[in-house]
Amino acid sequence: MSDIVAAPEGATLLDPDELEGLRYRHITTREQLNELEQANLDAGLLWLGRQKQLELTVDQMCRLHARLFGEVWNWAGTFRRTEKTIGVDPLQIGVQSKILMDDVAWWAEHNTFSPTEAALRFHHRLVQIHLFPNGNGRHARIAADALLEKRFKAPPIDWSGGADLTRNNQRRTQYILALRAADLQDYRPLLVFAGL
Ligand SMILES: Nc1ncnc2c1ncn2[C@@H]1O[C@H](COP(=O)(O)OP(=O)(O)O)[C@@H](O)[C@H]1O
Ligand SMILES: [Mg+2]
Repeated sequence: MSDIVAAPEGATLLDPDELEGLRYRHITTREQLNELEQANLDAGLLWLGRQKQLELTVDQMCRLHARLFGEVWNWAGTFRRTEKTIGVDPLQIGVQSKILMDDVAWWAEHNTFSPTEAALRFHHRLVQIHLFPNGNGRHARIAADALLEKRFKAPPIDWSGGADLTRNNQRRTQYILALRAADLQDYRPLLVFAGL
């Protein structure tokens, strides 16, 4: 099972307890895990497509994560309990997530930012809090696009730009550097990343 611990730059690692949560015992490689997760993500996206509105609540963010990863990981949709290289103190996740959801609802109601900037800020704060043991990047990209589609009736962000954002390549490097700038309150690189 050791190979599945490998992860691209800017990803966090699972600890042994979290690895225990894998629902498939026969998995030995990262490739196999990627395939299972992708199938789960596809099913989760179908579920999301059937939701008329994106509820801007912490519960709904957890429900979405459970739909995207719950067939593979038994901790999907539940808050992270361990410290990672990215993310707030696990004890702060609930409070910080609630503040974020209220902020996003406010932005959507008052047009504080352009739709794309609101979605990027939402995305960044989600991954910065890092609600879950894993899958935060993918969950937060899907959540940001759902905000655009369902709340703003706007097109999604072109995250991949033709590359695979889950692997090491130039596009991912640009993405991770833009998130690090946003950590320091500079959102411009993230706007540039999204073509603004
Ligand atoms: N400095 C950072 N600040 C905020 N978020 C970051 C930073 N570096 C990486 N991230 C986010 O964390 C994600 C990795 O977390 P992880 O839970 O492993 O998600 P996934 O499994 O979907 O890749 C990256 O895809 C990115 O979205
Ligand atoms: Mg990961």
